[in-house]
Amino acid sequence: MIFFNLPKDAARLIVLQRIELISPFFLRLRKFFGRYLFSNIFTKYFLNSSLIGKKYFEVMLKEFSTIEKFIDSNDKSFLSIGGGMGGLELIINQTFKNNKYYFIERNYVSKKVKYGWGGMVNEEAYNNLNLQKIFLEMNDMTKDQIKIFDYDKDNLPEKKFDVIISLLSLDYHYDFNIYAEYLKKVSQVNTKIIFDTIRAEYFKKIFNKVEIIGSDTNTVHKSKRIICSQFLS
Ligand SMILES: C[S@@+](CC[C@H](N)C(=O)[O-])C[C@H]1O[C@@H](n2cnc3c(N)ncnc32)[C@H](O)[C@@H]1O
Repeated sequence: MIFFNLPKDAARLIVLQRIELISPFFLRLRKFFGRYLFSNIFTKYFLNSSLIGKKYFEVMLKEFSTIEKFIDSNDKSFLSIGGGMGGLELIINQTFKNNKYYFIERNYVSKKVKYGWGGMVNEEAYNNLNLQKIFLEMNDMTKDQIKIFDYDKDNLPEKKFDVIISLLSLDYHYDFNIYAEYLKKVSQVNTKIIFDTIRAEYFKKIFNKVEIIGSDTNTVHKSKRIICSQFLS
């Protein structure tokens, strides 16, 4: 696979989840006409979804290269928190076959996407869980590999995961503490928890092992990507 197949409506969500995928022209439109018109009108009529499928694939491949060496063939169950459409998990699935992927996401699109830090107020979302399932299945994940949970409505999966991933979501847009107790329940001593944060040092008080594996100084949030394991309490 060298690009993702995707329905047009999935492309519209992907550009909200990954704003770097839209061209400078679209960015100017967004600035000029505002976020509401951009999300609801421009993306509906003017997006080239095959191009988005190609660019999203490339970006996810790059993200995968930042975490690849921390994943091995013993890792069988993956939890994605705020994984968007799940492009990263599709790339993992290309390399490590037959694993199970659990997704916790939200099933609505905020009226005005702000991309801010909400702290314990966690209201912003841009996903559609039916579309996510269609997208995953269109790109070689089988039905029995996928379990999708609506953060706002469902009981979250209570099982031990090998790898938990949350890029540009947990502790990037909303406070880690929203998920802290849940993550303690679903992790064991070897569980690897990978996420982007604006306060990497803080996590040395939360986990026994914390390693910084990347940093992004180009975005509003100036985040670090960290891999953590073993909750201290
Ligand atoms: C900036 S996007 C990042 C998507 C994806 N991780 C990526 O790297 O392309 C943030 C995602 O977090 C989701 N989200 C927001 N609050 C959430 C929550 N409490 N639990 C799970 N997902 C959440 C949003 O719906 C959105 O898809």
